[in-house]
Amino acid sequence: MPFALSGIKNNIMKLFDVYPINDINIVKALGSNVWDDKGNKYLDMYGGHAVISIGHTHPHWVKSIETQLEKIAFYSNSIKIPLQQVLADKLGRVSGKNNYQLFLCNSGAEANENALKLASFHNGRKKIVAFTKAFHGRTSLAVAVTDNPSIVAPVNETGNVTFLPFNDEAALKAYFEKYGKEISSVIVEGIQGVGGIRIASKSFLQLIRSLCTEYGAVFIADAVQCGYGRTGKFYSHDHAAVDADIYSMAKGMGNGFPIGAISISPEIAPKHFMLGTTFGGNHLACAAAIAVLEVIENEQLMENATRIGDYLLSEIKKIPQLQNARGKGLMIGFDVPDELKDLRSHLLSRHKIFTGTSKPNVIRLLPSLALSKNNADDFLEALREEVSVLSAQLNNIPANAEL
Ligand SMILES: Cc1ncc(COP(=O)(O)O)c(C=O)c1O
Repeated sequence: MPFALSGIKNNIMKLFDVYPINDINIVKALGSNVWDDKGNKYLDMYGGHAVISIGHTHPHWVKSIETQLEKIAFYSNSIKIPLQQVLADKLGRVSGKNNYQLFLCNSGAEANENALKLASFHNGRKKIVAFTKAFHGRTSLAVAVTDNPSIVAPVNETGNVTFLPFNDEAALKAYFEKYGKEISSVIVEGIQGVGGIRIASKSFLQLIRSLCTEYGAVFIADAVQCGYGRTGKFYSHDHAAVDADIYSMAKGMGNGFPIGAISISPEIAPKHFMLGTTFGGNHLACAAAIAVLEVIENEQLMENATRIGDYLLSEIKKIPQLQNARGKGLMIGFDVPDELKDLRSHLLSRHKIFTGTSKPNVIRLLPSLALSKNNADDFLEALREEVSVLSAQLNNIPANAEL
C-alpha cells in the first residue's frame, strides 16, 4: 500500500528513479556537439550511448522526418507501408545482405527478444548459449541472456540459458558436443559494449558459425551497439567474415529516433502471426532510418569510422598511464587505473566532454560516425592534459613541471 500512496502523499508525480544522472540539461545538439541550458558546449564522445550514428540533428535526417510527419506518422501493420520495403532495400545493400529478410520493431531488447523467439520457432528447441559479460537488453528473454543477475527479476529466470566463457573455444566445443542437438541459438555481440569493449575473436565467431551449422542451431549476432557501421564494417561480426543467421540492430539505426530490427537469413521462413508489433516499422521511424542509411552511404561514414577510429586508438595507446586501449572503428575502450579514477568525471566537468563507461574502470568511446579529425584532436588534447594533471597531483608535482 505505501507503494501506491507515496505519489499521492506529495500530490506530485515523480519520475521512477532508476538512473543515476548528471545534473545537466541538454537543450540543443548538432553533429558531435551538444549544448546545455546555460549555453555550455560539449563534445559528445558517447554518442548518447552509441545511438548517434550520423551526427545530432543531421539536416537530411531532420528534413526527412519533417516531410514524413506532414504526410502521415503512423498507421498499423495491417496495411502496406512501402517505406518498409525502401528501408529493406537500402539496408540489404548497405549491409551486404540483400537476400536477408527484415522485421522491424522498436528497440534493441525487442530485436533480441524476437531473434531468440524466432530461432526457437525455427528449430523447435529451447536451449540458448550466451556468454560471460554479455548485455542483450532488459525484456524477458533478452535479460535472461544478459550476464548480470542484478537486472534479472525472478520472473525472468529460466533454465534454458547457459553462459559460457567469452572467447573460449574449447568450452564452446565441449558444450556443443554434449547438448548440440538441443541448442536453439547462440547469441553473441561482435564487440561486447556494456561488458567493456571486449572483442570476439575471429576464430571464436567462426567456430560459432560452424557449430551452429553442424548442429542446426541459429547464430544470432547482436549488432545493437557494435553494428550499423560503428566498427567500420556494417556489422562488427563482418570482421570475422562470417554470416550470422539473424542480426539484431537498433541504436544507430534511427540516429535517436526509436527503431530496431532483425535481419533474417533466407533459410528461416516466416509464418503469419509468429512475430508482430504495433509500432514497429511505422512511417515516421522508416523515414528516419532511411535517412540514416542515405547519410551513411553518401558521406562514407563507415570509412570515416575506420579512419578516425584508427587514429584515436593509436594516439590513446601512446598515453602510458592508460591501459589496454582496444576497439575497432569508433567503438573504443581503455582501462583507467585506480589512481586516475576521476578522469571521466573531470573530462566532463573541466573539459565538457561526454564519454561512456563500463564497470569497473573502462572508459568507452562511442561517438557519431561522422566525428571529425578536429573533434578527435580536441578529445585527445583534453585526455592527455587531464591524465597528466591527475598523475601530477598523485605525485605532488606541478602539472607543467619539466620532468
Ligand atoms: C549489445 C546490446 N544489445 C541490446 C541492447 C538493448 O537495447 P535497448 O536499450 O534499445 O533495448 C543494448 C543496449 O545497450 C546493447 O548494448
